[in-house]
Amino acid sequence: MSKFSSDFLLGAATAAHQVEGNNIHSDCWAQENMPHSTYKERSGLACDHYHRYEEDILLLKEAGLNAYRFSIEWARIQPEEGVFDTHEIEHYRRVIRFCRQNGIEPVVTLFHFSSPVWLIRKGGWEADTVVEDFRNYVRYVIEALGSELSYICTINEANMGLQVAAIARRYTMMAKKAAEASGRGGEVQMGLNMQAMLENMKLQAMENAEIFGTPKPNCFNLGGSEHSDLLTMQCHLAAKEVIKSLYPEIKVGLTLSLHDLQPINGGEDRTNTVWEEEFTHYLPYIKDDDFLGVQNYTRTLVGPEEDLPVPDGAERTQMGYEYYPQALEHVIRTVAKDFKGDLIVTENGVSCDDDARRVNFISLATDGVRSCMEDGIPVKGYFYWSLLDNFEWQMGYRMRFGLISVDRETMERSPKESLYLLGSMMK
Ligand code: BGC
Repeated sequence: MSKFSSDFLLGAATAAHQVEGNNIHSDCWAQENMPHSTYKERSGLACDHYHRYEEDILLLKEAGLNAYRFSIEWARIQPEEGVFDTHEIEHYRRVIRFCRQNGIEPVVTLFHFSSPVWLIRKGGWEADTVVEDFRNYVRYVIEALGSELSYICTINEANMGLQVAAIARRYTMMAKKAAEASGRGGEVQMGLNMQAMLENMKLQAMENAEIFGTPKPNCFNLGGSEHSDLLTMQCHLAAKEVIKSLYPEIKVGLTLSLHDLQPINGGEDRTNTVWEEEFTHYLPYIKDDDFLGVQNYTRTLVGPEEDLPVPDGAERTQMGYEYYPQALEHVIRTVAKDFKGDLIVTENGVSCDDDARRVNFISLATDGVRSCMEDGIPVKGYFYWSLLDNFEWQMGYRMRFGLISVDRETMERSPKESLYLLGSMMK
């Protein structure tokens, strides 16, 4: 196995809401705790990483990794509009310093899906005011912590809003077709009870109105319009401006969720359209960034009318999509045709119980990264998702992406073989 040189960032990633625990001022926490929540379970104490970050960072270091990507939680830093919590800033300062003391490069994400409830009450990610609010939050964080940082991802998967909206559209269409096919509009096949779903929607709308002041809150993770997509880019640019004005040497980029789109049965035109929405239309906003964070988990087979299902007999991950580690190399090569700056793989991973499948996934995916580098593509880092088995949003704790498992009763950590495999790739 050829190895990565010591200036390559090799590590693992987490996000605050998914690992820290008790993120009580955030919209995700509020969504989870509604009586008619669509979350399978609550995040609760998560992995208690808030208190156990030292142990987790040491495990990462001892395995041989040299970088840790984690996020700062806006809802902790600014639990109420205009109120900044110095105690929480000091928490993140300790995390960053602990990384540094242990030779680990901290790569910080300023926004990873969860927002403060007050922001959503103001209109969330569809309200123009989000740009100023994000700018103020970023200024506060960077004034306090900027001198300790070298890499910042402003927004995780800035394209998630459009992706979620597209999935929601497809899902609604499928449900409508099923209802039409049943000829009743009540119970439908595929185990769905439309009436109950509608009923649930109504109750949820009432609960939303109570917490967020609107039946349809514009949370980042619930999908967004083109306007919100534009605001997200403006947030990125505002954050970059603030960071560069205070610490020009910090490397700044955002991250995107990118699929390996493979046209099939004449799906070329649609592939171009999807890629434009997923990637190319962001280029004007990111082309001068110091790096782009590439996040990839699988491939998508794109037909002329719709995406095709996972091929018969193909292995699936716990998430339901195809186990396809080669996707990362394909995506890097495609992205590099248009984005000429440095690339950092800020997320790539697989959810499975059998760690041997993770070992295989990481081996193939990182082979792909090395092959890109040999061809001169400037890939500067690889972060596996995730360091820990953690809270996979609406799917809860059943998805296991981690290099380290976490006992949900005792919070005891057990490193998996895949952690050591990844660490052994460092020269
Ligand atoms: C997100 C993570 C998530 C992971 C696995 C990415 O879209 O950034 O928060 O846990 O995928 O689904």
